[in-house]
Amino acid sequence: MDEKVKVTDTEQTDKKVNEDTTLKEKLVEAECMEADMPEQSEEQDGTGAEETTSYLPLAADQLDLAKQYKQMMLFYEAGIRQLTTKLQILNREFEQSNDRNPIENIKSRIKSAESIAKKMKRKGLPMTLSCLTNNIYDIAGIRVICPFITDVYEVARMLLSQTDVELVQVKDYIREPKENGYRSLHLIVKINVFFSDGMRQVPVEVQMRTIAMNFWASTEHQLRYKKDKVITSEMHARLKKCADIMADADYQMQKLAEEIHF
Ligand code: GTP
Ligand code: MG
Repeated sequence: MDEKVKVTDTEQTDKKVNEDTTLKEKLVEAECMEADMPEQSEEQDGTGAEETTSYLPLAADQLDLAKQYKQMMLFYEAGIRQLTTKLQILNREFEQSNDRNPIENIKSRIKSAESIAKKMKRKGLPMTLSCLTNNIYDIAGIRVICPFITDVYEVARMLLSQTDVELVQVKDYIREPKENGYRSLHLIVKINVFFSDGMRQVPVEVQMRTIAMNFWASTEHQLRYKKDKVITSEMHARLKKCADIMADADYQMQKLAEEIHF
């Protein structure tokens, strides 16, 4: 998978993000604590307060951390808003000249604190802010659904041609689908957002795919995340077959669009 990854030089922008490390460092530590909290509380019951109080933030610190967490969420939320507006403008402009929309639907989400902490643990990353900002680029996520495969690439091209959008990473699972049949174009971009203290580059993961690809990914995700259910290799093969049927439908629709001179 790594061969598919193109990483551009992000040192300069990382410096900016790291500038408020001191502000946010505690927040990530807090998330780590939050994840470990039940165990620590249980221990505290049995072993006495003195040994365990050092793990726990003071009540005042907790208030401060809550404020810092809100600030961080605002940072990513602003990135999502900015990028969504850009996509909406492109969609409207394209509609005016082509009488149709290249974007069917845009969805966005911010990763929850639990998911961020889980991902850091899974990747074996220390719970520090610099690690978070340098390694976790999908805290802000946007999913763009397009009617045709060519729309996916055209919308991506229009977005990336903008000077305030920097491409950090691209994974093209449409040209090279995952083994299970998953298809999608994944971009990590950094978008310029102006705050009261100046401009910041906010990283956002943009997943782009067709309606057919989205049908498969959404239903497959539901099946896969059904707890306590085993998916056999024969079932995996059937899921893959469904993905291939969707890919063929996309191909046929694309051909029809070309024949109709869309
Ligand atoms: P992460 O650490 O999970 O981000 O790994 P990665 O960066 O290597 O993942 P990748 O960019 O390949 O995919 C990240 C996201 O794409 C996931 O969180 C899903 O939303 C989506 N995705 C990737 N593979 C699949 C898949 O097989 N099925 C579905 N339904 N979604 C997928
Ligand atoms: Mg990812």
